[in-house]
Amino acid sequence: MLEVARIVGGQPLRGTIQAAGAKNAALPLLAATLLTRERVTLHNVPDLSDVRFMAEILRHQGATVTETSPGTWVLQATEITHRTPYELVRKMRASVCLLGALVGRLHRAEMAIPGGCVIGPRPIDLHLHGLESLGCKINMEGGVVHVDASAIHGQVVPMGGPMGSTVLGTANIMMAAVTTPGTTIIQEAAAEPEVVDLGHLLTKMGAKLQGLGTKTITIEGVATLHGAEHSIIPDRIEVGTYLVAGAITNGDVTVRGANPQHLEAFLEKLRESGVNVTTGPDFIRAHGHPTRAVHLTTTPYPGFPTDLQAQFMALQLCVPAESSLTEKIYPHRFMHVSELQRMGADIRMDGATAYVHGGRTLTGAPVMASDLRASAALILAALAAQGETWVQRLYHLDRGYEKFEERLQSLGANITRLPAAAMPKDLQSD
Ligand code: EPU
Repeated sequence: MLEVARIVGGQPLRGTIQAAGAKNAALPLLAATLLTRERVTLHNVPDLSDVRFMAEILRHQGATVTETSPGTWVLQATEITHRTPYELVRKMRASVCLLGALVGRLHRAEMAIPGGCVIGPRPIDLHLHGLESLGCKINMEGGVVHVDASAIHGQVVPMGGPMGSTVLGTANIMMAAVTTPGTTIIQEAAAEPEVVDLGHLLTKMGAKLQGLGTKTITIEGVATLHGAEHSIIPDRIEVGTYLVAGAITNGDVTVRGANPQHLEAFLEKLRESGVNVTTGPDFIRAHGHPTRAVHLTTTPYPGFPTDLQAQFMALQLCVPAESSLTEKIYPHRFMHVSELQRMGADIRMDGATAYVHGGRTLTGAPVMASDLRASAALILAALAAQGETWVQRLYHLDRGYEKFEERLQSLGANITRLPAAAMPKDLQSD
């Protein structure tokens, strides 16, 4: 059923919420459970449509997936197939991270290639070159990549691309290399906390990795991996989104169970914008309104995350000055701009840079969510806008935010999820 969110802006959000597990850690970690016949238990698994969909794919591959209590999943992949069809892959691009797990476990894979998505082209050339560096033979036929890894061996694998390192590409090579004979050295490896979390699970499963969180990861192949138990890291992007919700409404929001070290570049910009930020070992508090312009560029970790660009843009709409946001990861990831403009935002695009002239009063409007982070940004802007906003295509949000509107309500937001049919007909565009 299609759903919409109705938001009435103007309420300062106040209170404390608990961070959920990270979607972008959960997806590769779930794939990694295919690397062993033994049982793997994951805790803090977020309840998201992308994660449930990954479970569906794992079941297709032959694994059993059982949720034994909320957030705890037990997975076992006794016998699995090396084939993943297009009807599964096309629904979620991140399913590409199965490739490394299948190569690592079965030394072969046959996987349909995911297409691009609304945030821009999403090539996987670096994933494939990486596998080739390890001695895999790659064949493309009818939109399906065939990987023959019978001669796989440790090697130097350069993973840098025009936009820097690749997150899921690094995850794939790590999963392929942990059971590969010899030493693999991944150069220009992604250092994102989600990649490090994958490395931690693999280590618990018996893999030998060094250099996690740096640009060079060294892997000594082992014969087999075994079962393990692991708790997924908090979702830094979700945490950042709730902190923006506090600041954009001139409120006071604390997120517990968060890791401030994972958000340093974001917190620096939040402080620079004039928001009061305090942190402890496992919490972050943001209170007060932004007052100053900010200029930021998205780059791979530890830089400012592209997955918080749209939300930060919404925030800077409050500031009566010119801010700029430049995309260095996905130069086309600005679908939210035209929808924010419908709410009265003054934003000018120049290539991959958005110039935000803040300070104008935003007014509620019917808007369309185009992707996951854009939908969060529209809801944030709506919380600060005058009047009523309707956000359509809410399914984008559900891919990456667990119980978003319920948790915003607990902070005092006036937001309701409704069937799309409940939206006044003259406002609907779906
Ligand atoms: N790239 C290539 N060739 C490749 C792979 C990537 O040119 O073979 C380019 C991409 O086009 C992009 C850049 O390299 O310009 C970085 O892409 P990356 O491969 O790092 O992205 P990803 O691994 O596919 C993950 C997250 C994204 C997040 C990016 C960047 C998951 C499941 N997805 O994608 O998350 O934006 O890293 O940090 O981990 C989201 O959660 O909303 C989301 C899109």
